Amino acid sequence: MLESYLNKQVLITGGLGFIGSNLARKLVALGAHVTLADSLIPQYGGNPFNIEDIRDHVLVNVCDVRDPFAIAYLLKDKDYLFNLAGQTSHLDSMVDPKTDLDINAQAQLSILEACRKVNTELKIVFASTRQIYGKPDYLPVDEKHPIRPVDVNGINKLAGEWYHLLYNNIYGIRACALRLTNTYGPGMRVKDARQTFLGIWVRLLIEGKPIKVFGDGTQLRDFNYVDDCIDALLLAGASDDSNGKIYNLGSSEVISLKELAELMVNLESGCTFELIPFPPERKAIDIGDYYSDFGLIKRELGWKPKIGLREGLSRTLAFYRAHQHRYWDSII
Ligand SMILES: NC(=O)c1ccc[n+]([C@@H]2O[C@H](COP(=O)([O-])OP(=O)(O)OC[C@H]3O[C@@H](n4cnc5c(N)ncnc54)[C@H](O)[C@@H]3O)[C@@H](O)[C@H]2O)c1
Repeated sequence: MLESYLNKQVLITGGLGFIGSNLARKLVALGAHVTLADSLIPQYGGNPFNIEDIRDHVLVNVCDVRDPFAIAYLLKDKDYLFNLAGQTSHLDSMVDPKTDLDINAQAQLSILEACRKVNTELKIVFASTRQIYGKPDYLPVDEKHPIRPVDVNGINKLAGEWYHLLYNNIYGIRACALRLTNTYGPGMRVKDARQTFLGIWVRLLIEGKPIKVFGDGTQLRDFNYVDDCIDALLLAGASDDSNGKIYNLGSSEVISLKELAELMVNLESGCTFELIPFPPERKAIDIGDYYSDFGLIKRELGWKPKIGLREGLSRTLAFYRAHQHRYWDSII
């Protein structure tokens, strides 16, 4: 895997966001020539501070994946595309479904059309989501589980994922999709609860305010530290065994939200949490208990998460204690 990226041209859409910027840092270390495409739409997760330490080692192109001309230009000479740009808020997708459709489905199709026209040789890794499974019929959820998205975002991410597989199968443009579970770490959006409850929990803890757990806190979840997610993206990009495939990411460290809150409060002394009733708009799209079976990617690509929750959360809290003023409010 390490040699696959040496001196290679890599485009990351959503490259100023949480996962994209961490991926960029690793690719720079592996000797790749990295270009980041990001629209920096203010209410989304992009933040130039995410790449402060590698600013001189990457090319940044502030553009929108909905602009087919800009994207075709950027795709021309690339060996790899890590396609991470997305509208990530499930609630926002219900309030403004058209924008979610445009970014998560239509723009994905136009990115693939651009590949078909200007570069059929590159390898694409698409960041999909476990949200598309909806409320699980059984646990852990494997890739054969029925797909029943509970929100507009899930439907559009599913379309985006399947456009990639279709272009792999019909046009031979090598592509695969990873269905990410809750991913956390330095650079995640913490200014609000739009992306994940974990982000706002981190912020509240550092501000010394109680964190709020919806419902009775018994919902089960699994989490990946961002470095583990990056390893999976890189392994999937480097291997042709992944072409045309979908893989779940996940963790065997399954935890209830109440236990997670207890762990986090423990890591940030003097803090507390409280159970509050589920806000109705969140309850409507909640998926109940979820954790993944990630056996397929383990068997086929040799991936498994390495960073435990306690260690990952400690690193995350330390990062935001040091850099909170770069993340709380304004991003540019
Ligand atoms: N973080 C998670 O827990 C998680 C879970 C499942 C799936 N994912 C997927 O992983 C990908 C990356 O997520 P993230 O957590 O890094 O989120 P993020 O919001 O930090 O990053 C997404 C980036 O995409 C950019 N972007 C949004 N719309 C764009 C557009 N129209 N044109 C160009 N750039 C645009 C944003 O500015 C942002 O920088 C997303 O596709 C998301 O759906 C993330």
